[in-house]
Amino acid sequence: MARPVVILDFGAQYAQLIARRVREIGFFSVIVPFDTPLTEIRRMGAAAVILSGGPRSVYDDGSPLPAEDLMASGLPILGICYGMQAIAHLLGGDLVPAHTREYGRVTLATRAPSVLFGDEEGERTVWMSHGDTVQSPPPGFRTTASTGSVPVAAMEDPARGLFGVQFHPEVVHTEGGREILRRFLIHGAHLSQDWRMGDAIAEGIAAIRRTVGDEKAMVALSGGVDSSVAAALVERAIGKNLIAVFVDHGLMRQGEGDVVEEAFTRTFPSTFRRIDASDRFIAALAGVVDPERKRRIIGELFIEVFREVARGIGDVPYLVQGTLYPDVIESGTSQAAVIKSHHNVGGLPAELGFKLVEPLRDLFKDEVRQMGRELGLPAALVDRQPFPGPGLAIRIVGEVTRDRLDLLRAADAIVREEVETEALAQGLWQYFAVLPGARSVGVMGDGRTYDEAIVVRAVTSEDGMTADWARLPHGLLDRLASRLVGEVRGVNRVLYDITSKPPGTIEWE
Ligand code: XMP
Repeated sequence: MARPVVILDFGAQYAQLIARRVREIGFFSVIVPFDTPLTEIRRMGAAAVILSGGPRSVYDDGSPLPAEDLMASGLPILGICYGMQAIAHLLGGDLVPAHTREYGRVTLATRAPSVLFGDEEGERTVWMSHGDTVQSPPPGFRTTASTGSVPVAAMEDPARGLFGVQFHPEVVHTEGGREILRRFLIHGAHLSQDWRMGDAIAEGIAAIRRTVGDEKAMVALSGGVDSSVAAALVERAIGKNLIAVFVDHGLMRQGEGDVVEEAFTRTFPSTFRRIDASDRFIAALAGVVDPERKRRIIGELFIEVFREVARGIGDVPYLVQGTLYPDVIESGTSQAAVIKSHHNVGGLPAELGFKLVEPLRDLFKDEVRQMGRELGLPAALVDRQPFPGPGLAIRIVGEVTRDRLDLLRAADAIVREEVETEALAQGLWQYFAVLPGARSVGVMGDGRTYDEAIVVRAVTSEDGMTADWARLPHGLLDRLASRLVGEVRGVNRVLYDITSKPPGTIEWE
């Protein structure tokens, strides 16, 4: 494994973004808590360290600071925002506490020469969100950039490998931000890019073989990208010793189950089983309208069906799960309130005594997609929009019945087809149909109708945590309205959801 760039997390929402950017540039990265001891950072084989931003002030009582011996460790360090203030504070720079917080775009003037900005002086727009400011840098540092109100907006001491920027190079609004990170790693830390997907696949396969050996492993395929890619990787490692179980709950979108079946029976000669459990799921959901109850019922029944299959097979010590790096970080550090209980197969290992194989634990979603492509999974699976585990059940307000599922499936297929004819589909996070259970009066031909409405939902998002409604072209909305009403029997009205998240959520339930 490539030596990681270690990101110390000072509580910023930006730490994951930093980690992703670093990988995009071609370096492996990991996120650890801000107070991780230097011995641990060294044990991980850190090639460089980045201190993230954070909401606190170095003047707060008990403000978070990195391990005391980090600054003198000889490791190359870049401090971002709060991270730069922490460096200045620890090494004797002058800071001025803020009375106000500044957010947004500012013009940055850079001074040459500088490792981070190169030899060209100039101005650029950067994204700042900070309170305290550094007035003069610590001894040994040069100021390499400033803004109208921040005299030291960047500083560096290349001889000691220490760098700081007050703004956020990891966000897309900062011009040339990626180049700043790249220059830190290549010219400041003297590293060379060594993180490639091909290596990750080879290392993943070797690690799975070491763990699983000649024994058997099971995977519960959900039709989602993560479980599919995890399964494909494990199949490469252990072949027919992987038993891929696809529990078809009947809550999938049109054609989806078949895509999964085809990919795994044709491309991956694992032992594949598709279990059609749709009758059981629909029976269990009869009369249920509460969204959280729907999720619980689906999650529990999923486990029950999987458990039955596992019992029938016997002697399978390992379970493959498509856990991703953001899940690992979040379960370790996040205090976030549970807004919706996300259903996954997390309950399986404890109950069934499986040992876990989680080959995607180090990867972000975009890397998992890339891995899937390189492993030969079809685009229809790999480039799929995120789809919730409980499926269409949480896009039907009210009771889930076979008829209502069929109606929503037909509507959703039209939404997907029409949106995908437009180039903008690539920039969307999700686009789908919802059945809100709202009936209204209409006229069709000579007759009065009293039918269902369909809500079209299309959003842009970086990670699903926040989202904005997509500004779909009117021509597309118009085509959607006429096709949905004209082609889906039982629909006589079409609405477009223009709520962002927050305050809304992406899904309706
Ligand atoms: P919300 O509706 O919370 O959705 O804004 C955020 C993202 O999470 C997906 N989602 C789920 N995924 N099980 C899942 O596996 C769930 O129960 C679930 N609920 C929402 C949603 O599709 C969106 O991408």
